[in-house]
Amino acid sequence: MSRELRHPPTIALEGARLRPLRVADAAPFYAYLRDPRVTDRTSYPDVTLPLVEAIIERSLSRWAAGEPSKWGIALGADDQLVGTCGFNDWSQVHRWAELGCDLARAHWGTGLMRRAVAAALAWAFQGDQIDRVHAFARVDNAPSARLLAHSGFLREGCLRSFRMCRGRPHDFDLYALLRSDWAAARLVTGARAGDDG
Ligand SMILES: CC(C)(COP(=O)(O)OP(=O)(O)OC[C@H]1O[C@@H](n2cnc3c(N)ncnc32)[C@H](O)[C@@H]1OP(=O)(O)O)[C@@H](O)C(=O)NCCC(=O)NCCS
Repeated sequence: MSRELRHPPTIALEGARLRPLRVADAAPFYAYLRDPRVTDRTSYPDVTLPLVEAIIERSLSRWAAGEPSKWGIALGADDQLVGTCGFNDWSQVHRWAELGCDLARAHWGTGLMRRAVAAALAWAFQGDQIDRVHAFARVDNAPSARLLAHSGFLREGCLRSFRMCRGRPHDFDLYALLRSDWAAARLVTGARAGDDG
């Protein structure tokens, strides 16, 4: 079992950090996730405090079990949670992880999530257990599509009626980034191992 999986690192981002979620994050997580603008182009069910508490609990359990999971994105000296980024799912056998993220509306359009995703990808591909990261974005989720394209993901196709979104089926695009794509992009840009941008 990888020690790093059981003990996810805190990763410094410019002006923020990725850190493990905490039980005390439930209130700020609920506060931003209950904004319908954050969930309306996702398959999140109706947002309640127990739902958010369950997401945090699941994340903590998964890290503790040695499985990749979500980090919190936190700002400032008070370490306030403004988003999450990391892995919703993982196959140890097939060596893939599913990326997921969400951000308080007030922080959209700042590039914070690009930095968070870059750091999560570097963590995944600098480890030895993940060769492919994929993500599912509802076809009308333009900010998500821009984020994934900027982060180097390729759109592999459209999954019709893939997920129910509050009672209605929706099409989702499948995006993926392979370890080899990531390594090649870093060679081209001259990025050094350990950079988060
Ligand atoms: C998906 C989501 C995280 C994207 O947030 P975002 O802030 O647009 O993401 P980014 O970090 O990529 O920000 C890029 C934007 O910031 C701008 N920006 C401003 N300052 C910047 C900087 N210093 N560096 C980089 N980009 C910067 C970019 O120009 C870009 O603007 P654009 O989208 O108008 O082109 C957000 O929309 C969200 O939380 N949505 C709800 C949940 C969701 O859909 N999750 C994804 C499911 S797959």
